[in-house]
Amino acid sequence: MKVQLPKGTFDILPVADESWRTSDLWQHVEEVIRKTTAEYGYREIRTPIYESAELFDRGVGETTDIVMKEMFTFEDRSGRKISLRPEGTAAVARAFVENNLQQLGPTHKFFYIGPMFRYERPQSGRYRQHHQFGVEAYGVSTPEQDAEVIDLLLQVYKRLGLKNLKVHVNTVGDLESRKLYREALMEYLKPHFGELSDDSKTRFEKNPLRILDSKNPKDKEIVREAPSILNHLTPDAKAHFQALCHLLDQIQIHYEIDDRIVRGLDYYNKTVFEVLTEDIGAQNTIGAGGRYDGLIGQFEGPDLPAVGFATGLERVLQTMMAQKVPYPKSSRPLIYFIPLGEESREKCFQLASLCRHTHIPSDIELYAKKVPAAIQNALRSEAKFVCILGSEELQSGKAKLKNLATREEKEIHFDHLIPYLRENHLISTTNSSEHR
Ligand code: HAM
Repeated sequence: MKVQLPKGTFDILPVADESWRTSDLWQHVEEVIRKTTAEYGYREIRTPIYESAELFDRGVGETTDIVMKEMFTFEDRSGRKISLRPEGTAAVARAFVENNLQQLGPTHKFFYIGPMFRYERPQSGRYRQHHQFGVEAYGVSTPEQDAEVIDLLLQVYKRLGLKNLKVHVNTVGDLESRKLYREALMEYLKPHFGELSDDSKTRFEKNPLRILDSKNPKDKEIVREAPSILNHLTPDAKAHFQALCHLLDQIQIHYEIDDRIVRGLDYYNKTVFEVLTEDIGAQNTIGAGGRYDGLIGQFEGPDLPAVGFATGLERVLQTMMAQKVPYPKSSRPLIYFIPLGEESREKCFQLASLCRHTHIPSDIELYAKKVPAAIQNALRSEAKFVCILGSEELQSGKAKLKNLATREEKEIHFDHLIPYLRENHLISTTNSSEHR
């Protein structure tokens, strides 16, 4: 029997079609992310894809869907309880504390790109292995930091060419605000308790705010009339939220205040936000995040304030495809050498190596015996020039270059080939308007 891909996973392929699974597109998106994060002062952090299960139980929260239902948790051969990471925030906090990074200064800004694992029901936009780009900023408690991460996320989307995104912001207040709100919310929900879904009934005592986040249609109907957290904020939480909204106005970020956002992870306080698109169906949250001031202290680290976000790359790429956003191809061979016979094979191999050693993308036909088949391979490689080399060319010392798009031919002495190609390569890389 053929072995198949596990459910909820996918391959990213070097195939140039209109799919979001084309590796060219992933490379482009990652490049934009790396460039933009560097410009905002964020440095890369990489953590393992598996951690002690306890990290997420404590970090993400025991009553969250992620921990209750979605983790890939198993015992390793020594009986340790291990989880594939479902998200990055808890892992970055662990790495920060474990490596004593607080010694490096009072503030820290990290970004990461990598796979995350959640055992969810797979559907379009929802995978068991998905990829996140995320940032975490530690050390600043003022709302500029919240505004900076929101701005960074939107700037990445903008540079990728995404349009028509909606930004929803809310605050889940500080501990005191949530205590006040919890009482008001429970008071409101009590008469409806019998009609709530089983999950919401469980959450009623443990974490009633999460009921606002329920996807169950009846729950949704009930919470529509629920009191708003915005009316239960302490003066400090209220001032923080108002200042954030003011900063977003100042940098021309359009947003809606959505007091139903609570987010599915327990660590948030004060600011929470989501970015939505209408172009990819039901799984329409492409990015989300918020402030989580107590988390680092929870891992026995310094009591640093923190804020961050993560965006699902699959959803970002799917939105790009749905909106027909152009993107650049990765480099293709500038020249494709086709040898005719053993002698010219050696010459072609030398020339191809010389090209490669001087940064000129090139390839060589080592398989096809017949010219038409070799030309097909050259076309498939999307090379710009093809150079067919036989005994005639070896004798004359001149190569014939054929432009595969215009069919023009040019004869060049072997000694002049590399300078000519280098010039051509420079022109094509500076005009990298070769967008799909
Ligand atoms: P999250 O909302 O759980 O937040 O996930 C962030 C993003 O990852 C979502 O908005 C979505 O685009 C994508 N995503 C999540 N699950 C899946 C899935 N099964 N398939 C495809 N995409 C998915 C966090 O993970 C927080 N750690 C974000 C954060 C960072 N907050 C502060 N710092």
